[in-house]
Amino acid sequence: MTQIDPLLHHDRILIIDFGSQVTQLIARRVRESGVYCEIWPFNQVTLDKINAFAPKGLILSGGPRSVTEADSPRAPEGIFEMGLPIFGICYGQQVMVEQLGGKVEGSEHKEFGRAFVTVQNDCSLLDGIWSVKAQEEVWMSHGDRVAQLPKNFQVIGVSDGAPYAFIADETRHFYAVQFHPEVVHTPHGSALLKNFTHKVCGCSGDWTMSAFKEETIAKIREQVGDQKVICGLSGGVDSSVTAVLLHEAIGDQLTCIYVDTGLMRAGESEQVVSLFKNHYHIPLIHEQAEDLFLGELEGVSDPEIKRKTIGRLFIEIFDKCAKDVGDAAFLAQGTLYPDVIESVSFTGGPSVTIKSHHNVGGLPERMNLKLVEPLRELFKDEVRDLGQALDMPEDFIRRHPFPGPGLAIRIPGEITRDKIEILRKADTIYLEEIQKAGLYDVIWQAFAVLLPVKTVGVMGDNRTYDYACALRAVTSTDGMTADYYHFDHEFLSRVSNRIINEVRGINRMVYDITSKPPGTIEWE
Ligand code: XMP
Repeated sequence: MTQIDPLLHHDRILIIDFGSQVTQLIARRVRESGVYCEIWPFNQVTLDKINAFAPKGLILSGGPRSVTEADSPRAPEGIFEMGLPIFGICYGQQVMVEQLGGKVEGSEHKEFGRAFVTVQNDCSLLDGIWSVKAQEEVWMSHGDRVAQLPKNFQVIGVSDGAPYAFIADETRHFYAVQFHPEVVHTPHGSALLKNFTHKVCGCSGDWTMSAFKEETIAKIREQVGDQKVICGLSGGVDSSVTAVLLHEAIGDQLTCIYVDTGLMRAGESEQVVSLFKNHYHIPLIHEQAEDLFLGELEGVSDPEIKRKTIGRLFIEIFDKCAKDVGDAAFLAQGTLYPDVIESVSFTGGPSVTIKSHHNVGGLPERMNLKLVEPLRELFKDEVRDLGQALDMPEDFIRRHPFPGPGLAIRIPGEITRDKIEILRKADTIYLEEIQKAGLYDVIWQAFAVLLPVKTVGVMGDNRTYDYACALRAVTSTDGMTADYYHFDHEFLSRVSNRIINEVRGINRMVYDITSKPPGTIEWE
């Protein structure tokens, strides 16, 4: 469980997770309204832990199970008697109803997707949002439904498939909905959640990035004392924000290490070095390791071997550089909250390794380093807000994610220097056009992929036999699922024409329209 120093934040909400795919979205909505919250798996929550965390209210998430099944999850015994306001969502509603003496049944009328709730009675959650008799759009995803209310509950709203779509017991401050207020497809969902956290629970909304920044800086100083810290920079947002935050906290006790693998995009290494060394004046080791990486990758075409080779070399070089720094006691890492949430798994075993992600894992034990992870409580978009609170350059904090193994995994098959050069040029043109069209910030990630396929073309009067290149652009909130970006055709034609005309070695362009799942964002 991810319990993080609770005394640091003034008002807190606890989300008890029953394994819904969208539990993280509840946390994001709550935090967007300025309230700190954490997600704990239902089977690790005890009343003692809740008391120690001292939340102002509880939210019960949705989940994949049915409360009608014998061994299905329940909320911890006694939470309904703690005197805390509780908001149950979907499975959370059903758990609340079942445990308070009502009834849940499997229903013939399943509702998935858009539905409408007709408001029948008022309650505090509706304040300033919905009025009685209104029909309001919501997003549903349920098979079971409440069939009988527990004592003292009242119907607030009904839908075609759920006579108890929205219920409340105002006296005890219990509220429960069959629909999902946390998804954007419920247009007033955030406002309903905010009424719960602010009006019902009395949270003041004091979770701001500048408060977080100040508190975290104080915490880092306390943790590190006068010892030395090393931090691996990748050029990505997370490691960059980590480094700047640490530098603000402990100044030159921090040394950053940037390993140039030769697999970076055009101008990337220069940008990183110029920002950290010249602008922030952070001690920086810039290790040129292109020959080593490209040498070891020669002839390697299997994606997993590529990733493992890069991961191994990275750790070896980092290890060497860290030793050069001398007596470092800490390693700083940009670990984010989604990486530390232990979500509830109903499949039992560990999930399958789709790709082995590379990071500096293994180093702390080997070098006897302690970890500093100041972003452990944050979601990706909050890291960007923190970057802003630190006055970091806007174009740096808005950057798309870039994978550790770099362009190596965007050149399926064997990597050569020529191919890297061709890909860099194509990628630069693509991103330039995306920026020009004002689309960079609405896209999660966009890049070109150089395919290991040569095709026949004709340019002028000549036959060509050159590489095919694929363009990828996706929208996503966390990289876990993604949809391809729907460019208009004119945009795609413009980029294709430019790449084929300006990049020697490419004579055919394709656009990747695969979502994730079933595809992944990267090609390898
Ligand atoms: P996939 O391809 O798994 O990518 O859908 C999801 C997100 O993770 C990034 N990615 C990586 N990041 N090291 C990283 O630091 C890696 O080995 C790695 N592989 C994929 C990818 O760019 C996307 O944002």
